[in-house]
Amino acid sequence: MHTPLCGELGIEFPIFAFTHCRDVVVAVSKAGGFGVLGAVGFTPEQLEVELNWIDEHIGDHPYGVDIVIPNKYEGMDSNLSAEELTKMLQSMVPQETLDFGRKILTDHGVPLPEGDDNALQLLGWTEATATPQVEIALQHPKVTLIANALGTPPADMIAHIHDAGRKVAALCGSPAQARKHADAGVDIIIAQGGEGGGHCGEVGSIVLWPQVVKEVAPIPVLAAGGIGSGQQIAAALALGAQGAWSGSQWLMVEEAENTAVQQAAYAKASSRDTVRSRSFTGKPCRMLRNDWTEAWEKEGNPAPLGMPLQYMVSGMAVAATHKYPDETVDVAFNPVGQVVGQLTKVEKSAAVIERWVQEYLDATGTLEQFNEAANA
Ligand SMILES: Cc1cc2nc3c(=O)[nH]c(=O)nc-3n(C[C@H](O)[C@H](O)[C@H](O)COP(=O)(O)O)c2cc1C
Repeated sequence: MHTPLCGELGIEFPIFAFTHCRDVVVAVSKAGGFGVLGAVGFTPEQLEVELNWIDEHIGDHPYGVDIVIPNKYEGMDSNLSAEELTKMLQSMVPQETLDFGRKILTDHGVPLPEGDDNALQLLGWTEATATPQVEIALQHPKVTLIANALGTPPADMIAHIHDAGRKVAALCGSPAQARKHADAGVDIIIAQGGEGGGHCGEVGSIVLWPQVVKEVAPIPVLAAGGIGSGQQIAAALALGAQGAWSGSQWLMVEEAENTAVQQAAYAKASSRDTVRSRSFTGKPCRMLRNDWTEAWEKEGNPAPLGMPLQYMVSGMAVAATHKYPDETVDVAFNPVGQVVGQLTKVEKSAAVIERWVQEYLDATGTLEQFNEAANA
């Protein structure tokens, strides 16, 4: 399992693991893949701590950082500083919506977090908040890739990352979005099918991947959405991708911070237990269906706000679920893809990489046998 992109990035296998856990980043990169740390939930100061830790533990292996600058969000044309933008957005959250979010939590016996945890937080969902994260990432030479979710990164940011000698990747859910990334000079396009965990479009992976490959060739494409085995990677490469980008699988590894109760919920879930919901971030995001997601769907209840306003409401649920992970599964933010239906056990990250490589070899070996039999 080797593609030209492996040579360009200095990695053994074209397996990219998106995760919020630094231990998973290290374990994946050390096993020959490419770990990518999701930065959206970290303040710049916290991100610096995480990256220093990764640098100390990862040896000579490269890794990536993922930021979120959406193409469209409330307040995007304001040109305000992160602090001013936060204040302006806070004033835009209707009290009724905030009270509704609080009521869902209290109805489930979830204590509302106090102080800062309960404030309407902005996190890294805007250009103003993501830019300092990029600055910090670029101070770490082993960060060789910056990926952006939800849109084409701004032109000056792409130029800045290139000037620092790093590559830029961006996620997309349609050939049209892929074209915008390509025209802006993005180096690697990540095509994420609608079955994927987190923000996603509606088109399924097996239909989307080859369309994006055709649209942006010869720019390398990573296939995302629904990868939890080496057979699925074989399918992705057969459809023209140069590698696999996955997220859900890395919730079910020993190095992940997820608790045993959370992992048991994933192990029990079938592929039909996820939903594309706007109830946490304001944009359609695939996650485990639960009482929180259902409440925002019910007629008569407040509708979710746009991005990033909705997270200013749901952020208190996320803070509560971080604090009391095992008691809050029914209202927790649990982004995960339909592939959750095949994730039934917790493995070591290195064992996942090893299994995927072996499954890939088995799958491609079977195809070769078919060819040999046909030619015999
Ligand atoms: C828990 C979780 C959180 C995610 N958060 C982000 C994010 O902040 N930024 C991003 O680019 N992608 C995010 N994603 C999407 C992943 O990068 C990846 O594209 C997706 O998980 C691939 O589909 P899969 O879940 O079927 O593997 C997230 C996925 C999961 C499962």
